[in-house]
Amino acid sequence: MFSRLAQRYDMVNDVMSFGMHRKWKREAVRLALNGRSRAALVLDLCCGTGDMSFLAETMGASGVIGADFTLPMLAVARSRGRKERSRASFAAADALRLPFRDGVFDAVTVGYGLRNIADPQQALSEIRRVLAPAGRVVVLDFGKPENPLARSLYFAYLKTMMPAVGWIFHGDPETYLYIPASLERYPAQRGVEHMMREAGFVNARYENRLLGTMGLNIGEAPGEPPPSPRAKRGISSESEKIPRPSASE
Ligand SMILES: C[S@@+](CC[C@H](N)C(=O)[O-])C[C@H]1O[C@@H](n2cnc3c(N)ncnc32)[C@H](O)[C@@H]1O
Repeated sequence: MFSRLAQRYDMVNDVMSFGMHRKWKREAVRLALNGRSRAALVLDLCCGTGDMSFLAETMGASGVIGADFTLPMLAVARSRGRKERSRASFAAADALRLPFRDGVFDAVTVGYGLRNIADPQQALSEIRRVLAPAGRVVVLDFGKPENPLARSLYFAYLKTMMPAVGWIFHGDPETYLYIPASLERYPAQRGVEHMMREAGFVNARYENRLLGTMGLNIGEAPGEPPPSPRAKRGISSESEKIPRPSASE
């Protein structure tokens, strides 16, 4: 599905969120770096066209790997990276079976990705595995407002707006109906907090944005941060050297 959206993905994001996704993504990356931009190695999982990967780099991460299993999204990310002279690398990877060693990342960001993963609990376990002790994960995604009125207005907005956007940008009103559909299934802020605890994260919590229509879930791997920079631990910064998972599109 995302293969079809790749070329117009960034423009449509701006339209759908009135540009506000940029601010939320910046906040997610800031929370993930947690004031520790120096020598932080960041995995941007479900990176899509690379928005949060580039943000992590400009916000000071010493190394960034964007990972996604949709090759056309990665192609856009790589092309943007070349234009922006970014050092971020991009790897084809399935969130359910990450091709990275245990404990190599200081932070993991997931922007609008967890909701789309077939088994979000398994993905959180994988994230937990690749995070270093005291490393942080931040999941940014659509949320579910607690207030019933706000919630029904919000779903009504999504169900009205999405067909219009799909029709305008792709000539197909059904293109973005996956968003409200996936959100119905998604456990959102409170459910993801619970899932993070199940996956072994500590200090799991969430922050709401825009009346809870957006959620930022934060969790930390247990333990003390290791003394030396993880960038020297032997992880390749070249996506070509990362073993390819059996990824589908
Ligand atoms: C809505 S896009 C988000 C892209 C980007 N993070 C952003 O916020 O703009 C969701 C992305 O999740 C990716 N995705 C979904 N399931 C995945 C999985 N199991 N492994 C890797 N990527 C996955 C899709 O390929 C898609 O690029």
